Amino acid sequence: MYLLAIESSCDETAVAILGPAPRLLASVVASQVPVHQKFGGVVPEIASRQHLLTLNPLLEQALQQAQLNWEHLGAVAVTRGPGLVGSLLVGISAAKAIAWALNIPLIGVNHLAGHIYANFLAHPGLELPALCLVVSGGHTDLIYLPEHGRFERLGRTRDDAAGEAFDKVARALGLGYPGGPLVDRLAREGNPEAISLPRAFLEEGSLDFSFSGLKSAVLNYLNRARQRGEEVNKADLAAAFQEAVIDVLVEKTLQAAGRTGVERILLAGGVAANSRLRQQLEERTQQAGLKLYYPPLDLCTDNAAMIGAAGWYLWQAGYRDDLYLNAEANLPLV
Ligand code: KG4
Ligand code: ZN
Repeated sequence: MYLLAIESSCDETAVAILGPAPRLLASVVASQVPVHQKFGGVVPEIASRQHLLTLNPLLEQALQQAQLNWEHLGAVAVTRGPGLVGSLLVGISAAKAIAWALNIPLIGVNHLAGHIYANFLAHPGLELPALCLVVSGGHTDLIYLPEHGRFERLGRTRDDAAGEAFDKVARALGLGYPGGPLVDRLAREGNPEAISLPRAFLEEGSLDFSFSGLKSAVLNYLNRARQRGEEVNKADLAAAFQEAVIDVLVEKTLQAAGRTGVERILLAGGVAANSRLRQQLEERTQQAGLKLYYPPLDLCTDNAAMIGAAGWYLWQAGYRDDLYLNAEANLPLV
């Protein structure tokens, strides 16, 4: 009853092994950040080549960490999308080879379902229904989960994802890549009220998001200051930007909770690592009598443990893929 999980959708190569419950027995992540850093973002072709180099040693490392052999594995789960198609194919090809060689089930997992299921790994007693705010580099969604394996989308971003906005603003501020954690850190030294930035709440009652106007407002602020030869307080600007993103995320999450009547709120995706977002949601959910769950930092950003967590439920529910499983760059969750 051991499940091997592989994640290679973007710029982290990751392998995990789960045992019954499900319980995490091994989790290894090889980050490609140093490789892409000099380009200021992920270069897809380099990412797939890097996955090819790192995946086999990571598989051996995970087995060693879990103190298991190949023969112990009962199923293999792999991210099948969304993500970079070349990167996804490396993980999928490896998973197919393993499934075929060991004659064990192959289970394709949606990367976003993985982010959500990191919460079930971190909080074993967690029950449904729940509402999940999924905030990653490519997605910003409000998802209602009535039961395991069912996802209903209540809101989504109409333009930039929250993480994407963090990354673009970080680049404009000259902070580097990946931008989210750098903005998070710098914002702690700034005053969010020093600079006034717009918050897009959209039409009355809408649970959708929009962050491109806010991103443009930051870029305009920087350009105006540059033209006037004025010094910009980067910490204040980072704090004001972050606060504007978080205000909207928190407000709409609470609105969605009120509408669905859920008692549990989950936070998922790379931006769930943001310290201010966690703090603000913690405060507001407590005031509203709701229970907030989020994964530990290492399960927020891309990893294979979360793919294993989602894969575990699919495995137990009898879900199987065949060897024609293909990568889907734009695979929807709902
Ligand atoms: O989920 P993830 O690792 O990859 C995707 O599936 O997209 O999310 C990556 C995103 C990046 O945009 C990164 O800047 C952002 O998560 N991120 C953060 C923080 N840590 C990672 N954003 C804000 N604050 C953070 N502490
Ligand atoms: Zn992700």
